[in-house]
Amino acid sequence: MKFHIHTYGCQMNVRDSEAVEAMLLAAGHEKAAGEEDAELVIVNSCTVRQKAEDKAVGKVGALCATGKLVGLMGCGVSRLGVDVFKVLPKLDFAVGPRAFWRIPRIVAEGKFPVLELGENDVPAGLDAHAERGFQAFVTAMTGCDNWCSYCIVPAVRGREWARPAAEIVAEVESLARRGVREVTLLGQSVLRYHGFPSLLRRLCEIDGLLRIRFTSAHPSGCTDELIAVYRDCPKVCRHLHLPVQSGSDRVLAAMGRRYTRAEYLAAVEKLRSFDPEFAVTTDVIVGYPGETEADFEETRSLMDEAGFDNSFVFKYSPRPGTRAAKLPDDVPTAEKERRNQVLLDDQERRGLERNTRLVGTVREVLAEGPSKRNKSRWSGRDSGNRIVVWDVAQGAALPPLGTPARVRVNEAHPQILLGEVVS
Ligand code: 5AD
Ligand code: SF4
Repeated sequence: MKFHIHTYGCQMNVRDSEAVEAMLLAAGHEKAAGEEDAELVIVNSCTVRQKAEDKAVGKVGALCATGKLVGLMGCGVSRLGVDVFKVLPKLDFAVGPRAFWRIPRIVAEGKFPVLELGENDVPAGLDAHAERGFQAFVTAMTGCDNWCSYCIVPAVRGREWARPAAEIVAEVESLARRGVREVTLLGQSVLRYHGFPSLLRRLCEIDGLLRIRFTSAHPSGCTDELIAVYRDCPKVCRHLHLPVQSGSDRVLAAMGRRYTRAEYLAAVEKLRSFDPEFAVTTDVIVGYPGETEADFEETRSLMDEAGFDNSFVFKYSPRPGTRAAKLPDDVPTAEKERRNQVLLDDQERRGLERNTRLVGTVREVLAEGPSKRNKSRWSGRDSGNRIVVWDVAQGAALPPLGTPARVRVNEAHPQILLGEVVS
């Protein structure tokens, strides 16, 4: 059967979709050229904010009207539970985030509708990979045990569960043999992986592998042991995505983040102490219940002090069943919108400032493909995950993807660096 998978949400969802793709291919199905061409369409949903869920549900609703076989997977399924068929009466099948590996069997059996939440499943098929060039995601942990007040993830993705290190190492070895140069280890809070620094050291020894990234992180994981790994292992990329959520101690406590503003800033300081170019990116929520103008200004000043290289700003969205959902959602939408815009403007300025410091330096990049905006330019990322774009000579053969290149930066923009290749 020709299939197409439509993915919303985080890298974990991207990864799960990839595994489903690999399993469907192994079962003899075929990738469709696009959605129109597909007989089976699967939507992998996110529910971290209401808008994200609405998008996926809207998409599935439209697909159900086409007469194709339609499946829903991901976090939206756990949130909706048995109500999923009330919301989407024509849906054929729905599987929870730990049950995606059951999709090939469900499709083979062909008995619809079916709902498999798989809440207690030990996720299988996590090592299934479809060909995806020189980069690969590898699941290290699933679920989350932090229970931050606003977050629906622990409820929909279940308890924290870590894969055995030997399994992760074997998977990365096999990927490297197949030409993968860069892996990203995934986990909701990946630094909580027991023995994470030693896992990184083992992965660094794998031949052919050039880069190791991991996400997402909590400041408590920025230990001396981790810093020592950064120092010793150049393959471990100089970038950490370290969601801060707020710069106000009062709001951080209300969110149950388990760190203070000062502790967070100390973690950033530690990362930059051995390499001032170390890139730190973050997530921020504006308009958390009770967030005052003064709290918001604390967030603004923290973001400047931390000097984030990039940031993702989200308007607070109450999620059913979370502790925060019991509080009045009292910051008006227009005010959330304003705070959001202020932080985006700040980031434009800060991003430009930080990138301007890199003008004249040489970035080691891996070629990723033609630049999105200008196809006669080539694009890649440096170790800090910064997008670097350079001109290729007219008619020049394009380098194979994943080829290392050295690019001298001539021009800085808030989100990208422009430069030229040096030998
Ligand atoms: N409302 C708004 N943003 C949220 N996030 C998580 N839960 C919510 C919510 N209820 C944001 C956090 C997290 C990112 C993935 O999504 O910033 O880091
Ligand atoms: Fe959600 Fe907090 Fe877990 Fe992140 S650490 S997934 S914000 S509960």
